[in-house]
Parts: sequence; C-alpha cells; structure tokens
Amino acid sequence: MKNIVIIGATSCIATHCARLWAQSESVSLTLVGRNSGKLQRLEQDLQVRSPESSITLLQGDFLSSGGVNEIVKSIAKDQVIDIVLIAHGSLPDQRTCEQDVEQVNDALQVNAVSPVLFAEAFAARLQEQGKGMLAVIGSVAGDRGRKSNYCYGAAKGLVERYVQGLQHRFANTAVKVTLIKPGPTDTPMTASAKAKGGRLAPVEQVAKEIVTGIDKNKPVIYAPKIWRAIMMVIRHLPRFVFDKMDV
Ligand SMILES: NC(=O)c1ccc[n+]([C@@H]2O[C@H](COP(=O)([O-])OP(=O)(O)OC[C@H]3O[C@@H](n4cnc5c(N)ncnc54)[C@H](OP(=O)(O)O)[C@@H]3O)[C@@H](O)[C@H]2O)c1
Repeated sequence: MKNIVIIGATSCIATHCARLWAQSESVSLTLVGRNSGKLQRLEQDLQVRSPESSITLLQGDFLSSGGVNEIVKSIAKDQVIDIVLIAHGSLPDQRTCEQDVEQVNDALQVNAVSPVLFAEAFAARLQEQGKGMLAVIGSVAGDRGRKSNYCYGAAKGLVERYVQGLQHRFANTAVKVTLIKPGPTDTPMTASAKAKGGRLAPVEQVAKEIVTGIDKNKPVIYAPKIWRAIMMVIRHLPRFVFDKMDV
C-alpha cells in the first residue's frame, strides 16, 4: 500500500486530493492538522469512500520548529513514505497587513516558514529512504508581487525559491520534489473573493490536476493548467504596464 502523508490535511484542496488517492486504490494515509475534530470528520469521510484504506490522524503545532520536528519524527519512525503533500496556508487581508506587522508575521509564519520547516524535515527522511515524492503547495501569487496580496505572495515566493533549491539538491535521484501553484480556487480560503463575484476554479479540477501531476513527477504543477500561460504573461509584463494595472 502507498504511504501518503498530508500536512494540513483539512485544507479543501488537500481533502480532495486525499479523496482521489483513496478512491483510486487502497492507501495508507497519515492526515496531519491542527484541529482534531476536523481531522476526525475527514477520516470518516475518507473511510466511507475507501473502506480498505488505512488512516492515521495526527494533531500538532505547525508554527514552532519543535512542533514540526515532533510531527515528522513520529510519522517517519515506522513507515517508508511514498508521498508527502504540504498543503496548509492562510490568505491574510493585505490591507490589514499594511496596518499591523503582527498580521504580516502570521502570514509569513504559516505560509512560508512552517511549510519550509516541514519540507526540510521530510527531505532528510526521504534522503535516508533514497526515494519518495515531496509536494509543496505554493501559489500563482508567488510569481509576481502585486499590491493586492504581496505579503501572502512574498511567502509563496519564498517557498518557490526554497523548493527550487531542494529540486537542485535531489536532481538525478529518486527523491522527487514538486511545487504546486493553484490559481484562484473555490475553497473556504477564497470565500470572500467568491462573495465579490471572483472567478474561481472548481476544487475537484484543481485536485485532479495536482494528483495527476504528482503521479507524473512534474516539477511544477500549475492548476488549472491555464495559469502557466497567464503567469508567464504577468511575469513578463514591463513595469510601466504592470504599474497601471489594478491587481
Ligand atoms: N484556494 C485558493 O484559491 C488557493 C490558491 C493558491 C494557493 N492556495 C494554497 O493551497 C493550499 C490549500 O488552501 P485551501 O484553498 O485548500 O484552503 P483552506 O481550505 O482554507 O485550508 C487551509 C488549511 O490550512 C490550515 N491552516 C491555516 N492556518 C493554520 C495554522 N496556523 N496552523 C496549522 N494549520 C493551519 C487549515 O487548518 P484548519 O482546517 O484547522 O483551519 C486548513 O487545513 C494553501 O497553501 C493555500 O495557500 C490556495
């Protein structure tokens, strides 16, 4: 049975990935989150969909290096890990960040520091095993800083540069590292954008593209795929054009 670990398993995108994995074959899932009640509800949902799969829950502190170490140690001690998906994150209000550095700190901790600590700790385990897939969810927001979400975007940009380094470290080995960049997706994180009429991709589609991309060892997964082209254009727009855009 494939051993799959999901950090931030209660995330809507991660939950849909877990459903796809569990429905395609019997898998062993380790679901990690900060909220036991939510984890238990997720376990029930997945167990009904895939009665033969084995599911383990782990609750922990994502925001301290000690907490991250404890989680990774307890997962790695008795299994060979096939896939790790690091999915947690939080979209701060940019305007609030501009008034309150505590909010900026929180945004950087949960979206950049914590995923990097998890990735680094798991990378050491995968190196010991000599194989495995480490997939980290970044965002298209990390591709270019813009006024409406640059604190979040900066955190995701840090994750991108970090993953790039990991990919270089593990190049030509059986340890694979993937950066996932969802575009705006219909999940609880984007509820306020949805209320304002923003166009969002269905989470089922995004999860399917992520699971397929991981299966194919893609180094970068834009989901939906169209965002690869959109961000290519955005990244290359000259500053004098970009500065006129209200984005
Ligand atoms: N939705 C989008 O449009 C979009 C676009 C680009 C990238 N992404 C990225 O995709 C990933 C998943 O997002 P989603 O849309 O599925 O969001 P979501 O459903 O709102 O899930 C967010 C997840 O992060 C966890 N989390 C938030 N703050 C945490 C903290 N301080 N400590 C531990 N866990 C924390 C939540 O835990 P609880 O369930 O306990 O609250 C939940 O598991 C994130 O990395 C996000 O940045 C999303």
